[in-house]
Amino acid sequence: MSHNSLSGGKVIWITGASSGLGRSLVLLLASQGHQVIASARDKNALQKMEADSSNICAMPFDMVDESSLASVQIEIEQKFSAIDQIILNAGTCEYLDFPDTDWCAIRRVMEVNYFGTINCLKVALPLLRNSSALRPHIVVIASQVTNAPFPRSEAYGASKAALQYFFDSLRIDLIPDSVDVTVVNPGFVDTPLTRKNNFDMPFLMDVDQAASRIIKNIASRPRVYSFPKRLRGLLLISKLLPSVWQKMVSQKESNAAVEKASEHKKQ
Ligand SMILES: NC(=O)c1ccc[n+]([C@@H]2O[C@H](COP(=O)([O-])OP(=O)(O)OC[C@H]3O[C@@H](n4cnc5c(N)ncnc54)[C@H](OP(=O)(O)O)[C@@H]3O)[C@@H](O)[C@H]2O)c1
Repeated sequence: MSHNSLSGGKVIWITGASSGLGRSLVLLLASQGHQVIASARDKNALQKMEADSSNICAMPFDMVDESSLASVQIEIEQKFSAIDQIILNAGTCEYLDFPDTDWCAIRRVMEVNYFGTINCLKVALPLLRNSSALRPHIVVIASQVTNAPFPRSEAYGASKAALQYFFDSLRIDLIPDSVDVTVVNPGFVDTPLTRKNNFDMPFLMDVDQAASRIIKNIASRPRVYSFPKRLRGLLLISKLLPSVWQKMVSQKESNAAVEKASEHKKQ
């Protein structure tokens, strides 16, 4: 059966839909009556969501695998013929430890966060151009990490900064196509990705609240939406007083390292 946006809601494709922010975005948008295409690698998680809502369509894929993307493109074309919005949310995070650095982690993170996202964009653009919506919409989830240097975040931060530049530039090139581009920069959100963190996460947000803020605020198609504002304010220290910032974060980092070492000794 072919679906389209005539039923009232939009057709929205969300990547990284199996957990965290992506999952909350899918559930919320489906409950608002939109047709949501949910993609990630975890087929079981996606199929469970599909079983619970007639507005959710599971399309598992690995976004770094071009052949898996090609079949998703065909499937979306057959089922929906077009999409009105894509939320490029899928991502990963690996921290670097110096001096024993796993240099391959940089390539792994870049492969998923940057090249994987671009792979999805490549598939999505013709589908967005087929949309009957006045202005199709591309939304990419970057991060507030790019507002300040954090220790061990070289790979993750660089991948998100690359995304920001790419999509800021793309916004200009898509003006003739009337496609809007919004870059979303969340602060810390409680998801499986951040549950691995062993440092303080100021203003940590509940995942459903973060998803609902994103949906509410991207509706007006801002170029950039960064939240929460309190974190943005805190990160300004890194621009205004860089040496103070450096001391703040390096001190916290060395405390965490000491804690980790003493936990190791106890075991
Ligand atoms: N949580 C935060 O504090 C925070 C802050 C700023 C920005 N962000 C960004 O928000 C986005 C969502 O993160 P999250 O916190 O919700 O983390 P999460 O729960 O770990 O979700 C990441 C999602 O990406 C998918 N994914 C990872 N690699 C993939 C691949 N190769 N192919 C397809 N899907 C892949 C995962 O699904 P599978 O494993 O099933 O493939 C999962 O659904 C990420 O881009 C993250 O960088 C998060």
